[in-house]
Amino acid sequence: MAVIAVTRERRAGETRVAATPETVKKLIAAGFAVTVEAGAGAAASYPDADYKDAGATIAKTAKDALAKADILFKVRAPEAAEAAALKTGAIVAATLNPYQDKAELTALAKAGATAFAMEFVPRITRAQVMDVLSSQANLAGYRAVIEGAEAYGKALPMMMTAAGTIAAAKVFIMGVGVAGLQAIATARRLGAVVTATDVRPATKEQVESLGAKFLAVEDEEFKNAQTAGGYAKEMSKEYQAKQAELVSSHIAKQDIVITTALIPGRPAPKLISAAQVASMKPGSVLVDLAIEQGGNVEGAKLGEVVETKNGVKILGRPNLPGRIAADASALYARNLLAFSTLLLKDGQLAPDYEDEILKAALVTQGGKVVHPQLQG
Ligand code: NAI
Repeated sequence: MAVIAVTRERRAGETRVAATPETVKKLIAAGFAVTVEAGAGAAASYPDADYKDAGATIAKTAKDALAKADILFKVRAPEAAEAAALKTGAIVAATLNPYQDKAELTALAKAGATAFAMEFVPRITRAQVMDVLSSQANLAGYRAVIEGAEAYGKALPMMMTAAGTIAAAKVFIMGVGVAGLQAIATARRLGAVVTATDVRPATKEQVESLGAKFLAVEDEEFKNAQTAGGYAKEMSKEYQAKQAELVSSHIAKQDIVITTALIPGRPAPKLISAAQVASMKPGSVLVDLAIEQGGNVEGAKLGEVVETKNGVKILGRPNLPGRIAADASALYARNLLAFSTLLLKDGQLAPDYEDEILKAALVTQGGKVVHPQLQG
């Protein structure tokens, strides 16, 4: 019987866990045995006792959990010591952040692991249920609004009271992928007046269907900004200058700006300059969701709340899904549960490496980094 290990996340501030009691139960029903390191779910409010009740064995240490494991489920890449404790050829499924976390990737290759980067799972219909980027970005978008609202010293909805009227807050979302769409929906639910921008033309209708107003430079380049894979292209300097000019006067009037713009495999585009931040009113808030990829806002600092001279706050908190850990873990764990079905055949561990999902996500095997986009 194939054994899945779930160990505690060791990266600072990582509160999520790669399996929940619910998915453990289902993994066992599917034919796996599951070992969970003691305390693995604690930060996401899943106690050891619940994993035990679901049928998991609780191991004292990560090393104990890994000793017999054929598969390791993680949120983040295992650290070198953990990778070294893996059986040769063991399968690892995690968000490996392979473009940036090169040392961890090398450690996995060195350990002889067969590692899958969950963020490389293709966005085809069959793999939607395994799409960790979507499951986590959706919650990050929600959480960004909550964080922004918390840091903002006024209310979001319009309120008519005996003591007078409070105006609705103006919220501007830059980048309307999965996170941006949820941010729009959340800000609207809280009663804000919402506008949004993106470089992909397909987003215009999506923004409007959520009751927000769309704002973008809609030139020829914009019309071709979406790749066949549905992602944004890196825009030309000229486009970015036009975009900055268009949004400049808009930004100055906003109360909360949430930026989520990303380009796969590239640093995040810089969308907001220090001068634009300085044009905002005191008390305004910027939430930079792209901070881990370098940030969209000039002056944003990873892990910090920067308060500018003119009283504007720039939130650079990493890992927003980790700030809603119980739900983020529940969805991530279901993504991995779906992924696990690709590893079994007739109840035996027999991954079909010709399957397009496994092929696209495989990053290390047989001692090497094997993914074509990660060579050199
Ligand atoms: P992402 O996280 O890679 O980027 C976030 C957003 O930033 C994107 O909408 C992108 O267009 C935008 N952006 C990039 N450069 C920008 C700039 N200079 N100014 C303004 N915005 C900029 O995107 P995410 O959330 O991963 O979504 C990417 C695509 O994948 C979308 O088309 C989405 O609908 C699609 N998708 C498809 C799924 C499926 O079919 N299974 C599931 C989820 C998403």
